[in-house]
Amino acid sequence: MKFFIDTADTNEIRDLAATGYVDGVTTNPSLIAKSGKRFIEVVREICDLVEGPVSAEVTATDHKTMLAEGRKLAQIARNIAVKVPLTPDGLKTCKALAGDGRMVNVTLCFSAGQAILAAKAGAAFISPFIGRLDDVSHDGMALIADIVQIYGNYDAIKTEVLVASVRHPMHVVEAAKLGADVVTMPPDVLRKLYSHPLTDKGLAAFLADWQKTGQSIL
Ligand code: E4P
Repeated sequence: MKFFIDTADTNEIRDLAATGYVDGVTTNPSLIAKSGKRFIEVVREICDLVEGPVSAEVTATDHKTMLAEGRKLAQIARNIAVKVPLTPDGLKTCKALAGDGRMVNVTLCFSAGQAILAAKAGAAFISPFIGRLDDVSHDGMALIADIVQIYGNYDAIKTEVLVASVRHPMHVVEAAKLGADVVTMPPDVLRKLYSHPLTDKGLAAFLADWQKTGQSIL
């Protein structure tokens, strides 16, 4: 399973990229606003930091302007995945950009039916938002199970299931159990994946005992 980082904070991306665990980055207009930087500049910076796909989202809502925005964003770097919302105009734009040979990430997916449409539009990625579904008392992970099953029924579907709106490490674990292709997570969720109190406790005990031996390896 690939790990994408869901942020436009270049310091975080640089830091986490050094771990070797960052296969790509997703941004959205809210994350760009939070970065306080100019959209095109920050996306270009991110594309220089990671080799894998970097999602940059269009902000128009009509097909013609979305397509123009998508083509402009795609010029930033070879690893741009143009992000479009799951609307009729967004899917039309997805089809056109995919026809240009561009990677497209269809975002704001909340149902299996929407995911089928995105696959038919030639999306490289479908982004179901599981945390936001959980927030309204729907089972976000059940949607991932449905989409993975549906896509698995058709060899012709190449769209990758990109689990988004991830809130905690168990979302990552559950997505992996279901065979999702990608999980995009906020930086703190990736850091939390390392943690277990028994690891900390066990290491402290080993180090205390090692010190008693008076030895050193080097
Ligand atoms: C993914 O591409 C989205 O940017 C993101 O996962 C949304 O997460 P949120 O629901 O925490 O805002």
